Amino acid sequence: MKRLFFPFFILLISSNLYCQKFENLAQTPPMGWNSWNKFACDISENIIREIADAMVSTGLKDAGYEYIVIDDCWHGKRDSLGFIQADPERFPSGIKALADYVHSKGLKFGIYSDAGRKTCGGRPGSFGHEYQDALQYARWNVDFLKYDWCETENINPIGAYTLMRDALHAAGRPILFSMCEWGTSKPWEWAQNVGHMWRTTGDISNCFEGIEDRGTWHALCALTILDTQDSLRKYAGPGHWNDPDMLEVGNGMPANEDRAHFSMWAMICAPLILGNDIRNMAPETKAILENKEVIAVNQDKLGIQALKYGANDEVETWFKPLKNGDWAVCFLNRSKEDKTIEILWTDYAFTDEISGRSPNFDKTTYQLKNLWTNEEEGNTKEIIKKTIPSRDVLMYRIIKNI
Ligand code: GLA
Repeated sequence: MKRLFFPFFILLISSNLYCQKFENLAQTPPMGWNSWNKFACDISENIIREIADAMVSTGLKDAGYEYIVIDDCWHGKRDSLGFIQADPERFPSGIKALADYVHSKGLKFGIYSDAGRKTCGGRPGSFGHEYQDALQYARWNVDFLKYDWCETENINPIGAYTLMRDALHAAGRPILFSMCEWGTSKPWEWAQNVGHMWRTTGDISNCFEGIEDRGTWHALCALTILDTQDSLRKYAGPGHWNDPDMLEVGNGMPANEDRAHFSMWAMICAPLILGNDIRNMAPETKAILENKEVIAVNQDKLGIQALKYGANDEVETWFKPLKNGDWAVCFLNRSKEDKTIEILWTDYAFTDEISGRSPNFDKTTYQLKNLWTNEEEGNTKEIIKKTIPSRDVLMYRIIKNI
């Protein structure tokens, strides 16, 4: 019995060491840019280079955005040995040269594949080529892999994503693993040790609220996605994030709606992956995307998603516990009309079951910092009355008096 147990034990330990995801790649929600929302399949190496340039020149890199990710449709054919190649017309210099260019700007480089036989755009999927693809990405100096879920009939999601995790690990280069399975098999319940982030929903669209019929599928507006996220907050944390899909800021919604969308993604610890053409941004888009205080709420090291405290007359109240005893508070006016609210802070008496913390407004005084006007607005002992424009937010960091 003892003799049998020992080798089995060694095998168990070594297989555990082998089967893991790369640690410390996403201690705060990943930030970057992805080609899909704006360009879909109409991408090229020139666009990606210009986007990398713009990431630096616009100040987005300094604000914390780091990854440049090429989504679907970069693929050409597999070579005679089965290794995937880039589309030679759109990416004539090859992926390695592009990754090197992105790295030369002090940024990181990401790519896309699919667990099935084909990607959603009909390009070769990784099914049956997982180890080979992971090796190829590592050789190309890729830092981030988004892994989609089209053409996966009869494929088990846990098996498929775990297989790619192990393939990435075996290839040896730390690559952030972004799972894009749309939440179908509830990855938040099983993927904590598989991916660094997992999509929780179908695809987003550049609209505020509702569902858009796209024939064979439905696209979801920002707040329609938000409505499905509150119940998932306990599953996210440093190293493993719920992903309610990429940002639509700058893609057509008015600035107030973009501001609300961005604020709420910050509040719920969503990966902040830009989806607009950052080479040509309106000043108000840039101001939203580069709001360092709102980004700091998203990137807070505690890594706890906001809780939805409640809603009153179409104004929702969300609280996010922050490191050092502060909180972020966001009042979201979903209505098509402006709303005036009166805030008596002691009305908010609750204990957050995830952090175990309560703001204790009856005993603790906090200073108010308005994160969109940048103004100090007194403290939580005072009643405040504010009008929140339609489809906009009032967002504070409340700072504990020492
Ligand atoms: C799926 C994903 C999108 C995008 C497209 C590419 O729909 O959910 O985010 O990657 O595929 O085809």
